[in-house]
Amino acid sequence: MANTNTPKYLIAPSILSADFARLGEEVSQVLASGADWIHFDVMDNHYVPNLTIGPLVCEAIRSYAVKDGKPACIDVHLMVEPVDRIVPDFAKAGANVISFHPEASAHIDRTLSLIHDQGCLAGLVFNPATPLNYLEHVMDKVDLILLMSVNPGFGGQSFIPSTLPKLAQARQLIDAHREKTGRQIRLEVDGGVKAENIAEIAKAGADTFVAGSAIFGKPDYRAIIEQMRAALNAI
Ligand code: DX5
Ligand code: ZN
Repeated sequence: MANTNTPKYLIAPSILSADFARLGEEVSQVLASGADWIHFDVMDNHYVPNLTIGPLVCEAIRSYAVKDGKPACIDVHLMVEPVDRIVPDFAKAGANVISFHPEASAHIDRTLSLIHDQGCLAGLVFNPATPLNYLEHVMDKVDLILLMSVNPGFGGQSFIPSTLPKLAQARQLIDAHREKTGRQIRLEVDGGVKAENIAEIAKAGADTFVAGSAIFGKPDYRAIIEQMRAALNAI
């Protein structure tokens, strides 16, 4: 049984592995196939060695990111440095969650406030070797903690196993915070997540699962998402 403190599991396909020539259709199709959120990877060829998509593309897919007739969450993962300049652009482009890497912001507390001021939920992202200490003084401003289970920059890499004890550590912090304040924080994992390992990752404490190549690399999105849900339901 999942811990009763754990919120509903969410599946967030990363469009990094989608067909960019048909992006709107890909977004609609993956949501119609049972996905919950759209994970939107922003890379700047500076903080990470790759270059992807920006606010204009976020705005372009906004009207396709619809689930059951309502806007679906666009979960923007910023792998850019500096962070603050681009935050309002993504908020205006229809982002719902904006997450950033603490190493990429000179003033973490200020960036978290800026994201809230722009009407979005704020997330902090931890690379595999980044300690969770950055959370210590800003827990009350964080809506989502995203643990990278690969080094950021590319899709299709293998899950790094040391993420599992780190997820358990983050889950403890989240549960303690919830006990104290009543506030729930999501625990998301990103990199190398597949139907085969999703249950183990959930058992370690994750509740929100980014999957790029495992979904968009396959011909039948619904079948893969159903396999993931079945693995999660069996916990
Ligand atoms: C990596 C990105 C991930 C990536 C995940 O820097 O943040 O979101 O697209 O891709 P997979 O699921 O293929 O590891
Ligand atoms: Zn990502």
